[in-house]
Amino acid sequence: ALQLKGRDFLGLVDYSPEEIRYLLDLAIEIKRKHKAGEAYQPLKGKSLGMIFEKSSTRTRVSFEVGMYQLGGQALFLSRNDIQMGRGETILDTAQVMSRYLDGMILRTFGHRNVVELARGATIPVINALSDQSHPCQALADYQTALEHKGKLEGLKVAYIGDGNNVLHSLMMGAAKLGMHFASASPEGYDPDERSVKSSIEAAAETGGSVRILRDAREAIEGADIVYTDVWASMGFEEEQKEREKAFKNYQVNEALVSHAKQDYLFMHCLPAHRGEEVTEGVIDGKNSVIFDEAENRLHAQKAIMAAIM
Ligand code: CP
Ligand code: NVA
Repeated sequence: ALQLKGRDFLGLVDYSPEEIRYLLDLAIEIKRKHKAGEAYQPLKGKSLGMIFEKSSTRTRVSFEVGMYQLGGQALFLSRNDIQMGRGETILDTAQVMSRYLDGMILRTFGHRNVVELARGATIPVINALSDQSHPCQALADYQTALEHKGKLEGLKVAYIGDGNNVLHSLMMGAAKLGMHFASASPEGYDPDERSVKSSIEAAAETGGSVRILRDAREAIEGADIVYTDVWASMGFEEEQKEREKAFKNYQVNEALVSHAKQDYLFMHCLPAHRGEEVTEGVIDGKNSVIFDEAENRLHAQKAIMAAIM
């Protein structure tokens, strides 16, 4: 049997293919129940703390509403409004929070902060985006792909653009799910090497594959899923101008997607810089499933919380 209760959810690397498939199936079932108006409240009386060091629309709203729908309540804790913003340590914060709460999420810059919070806490901790990864996003994305394609194994995922947190989790998810992942980033913006290495190792166990390329056209050839994200993530705003130059051959536009499969899915974690990393024609086109992805953040995270809390 799967042992998920009490676990942290810091990255897909810590979850087996079987566990990820279980969470995807649970997310789909939770979504079905929700649409049918059937109550599903396994977390009655429980509380989730949500610490944010950066902005958020989807993550904040979907966790807060999701926790409410599961029968519990959520507290939004902006880093600057709690004592952490004045230097109370993460370890002390973790121990205090553990005395009140049943689970915590953290959106932070340094991934080590998430690891440290989890180390100090006696309750499950969920990574709500760090510089290294965004596992909740990838879970919702693969739920979306599964709903649209009916399967995941063997599909080709092409990521075009910045080698960032979103890429890392998408790549690890593809590897764990037996998919073929290819990315293309400009020089200097490749994904993190350790992340690539551990994804390649994961893919070796599932029959999936991981390729890190320079050429966008080569990466997108025959893709079932075409994914991109902003060129300047949160914390990199001052590099916007130089990144626009570096990424100019990495826009997902009509010419580029003509090399993907005809029935490809266009995906983006959002928020998007329309007209920059993706043209309006592609992001609003018939292949785009961006709002299904956004919606599935709710269902996928309810599955995570229900499973581990
Ligand atoms: N995709 C995502 O995490 O969006 P937010 O930054 O709005 O939470
Ligand atoms: N890569 C983006 C994702 C936002 C959801 C960022 O980190 O800002």
